[in-house]
Amino acid sequence: MSLTLAFDVYGTLIDTHGVVVKLKSLVGDKAVSFSQSWRDKQLEYSFRRGLMGDYQHFGVCTRDALEYTCRVYQIDLSDQDKDSLLACYRSLPVFADVVSSINALKAEGHALYAFSNGHPEAVSGLLGHAGIEQLFIDIISVDELETFKPAPAVYQLFLERTQSDPEETWLISSNPFDVIGAVNVGMKAAWVQRSPEAVFDPWGVEPDLVVSELTDLSGRLPGPR
Ligand code: LAC
Repeated sequence: MSLTLAFDVYGTLIDTHGVVVKLKSLVGDKAVSFSQSWRDKQLEYSFRRGLMGDYQHFGVCTRDALEYTCRVYQIDLSDQDKDSLLACYRSLPVFADVVSSINALKAEGHALYAFSNGHPEAVSGLLGHAGIEQLFIDIISVDELETFKPAPAVYQLFLERTQSDPEETWLISSNPFDVIGAVNVGMKAAWVQRSPEAVFDPWGVEPDLVVSELTDLSGRLPGPR
């Protein structure tokens, strides 16, 4: 029996800080910190909307977080500049380790899915733009439940959709909140610590595996039973 692998998308397969190139032309040397603040606020908005039961697509969280970040940095971007940043967000680059690692994991016999807070069309567009959509069996999005990770229901949805046993299902994510969300429902989880400075939440819940890049996963996951 193969394992079921749920790949988080934003930050794990797709580099959300790919917007820095465009941001440099708009906000200069604040581009890196602006990008980080934008991403942090986007996630905060998704968590808050989930808690409030006030779901809007993840793209709305992204757009509102951009507006908020412009206000914090007191940067008055034109509507055209904001639109071009949001267009960048729909065509973010794929991390360099994705294609070879995915192919290696497929060759090991695992069943691979993309699993995201993103709307299915946005995720399909991103993965398609990156040329990797066909590597996954399907895209499972939180959208049909109208809430966000790390609500337990969205991980349950993943398990139901893929007809997988939680003990044989691994979330692969660079986002600690996502790893903890998966472990919380009994799934296994690998944390992709994409930089040595990335910190895991000290909640007393540990990932089953920590890797610094996706290529380190091959051969490290338990083999098919
Ligand atoms: C996702 C975000 C959480 O793709 O990275 O679900």
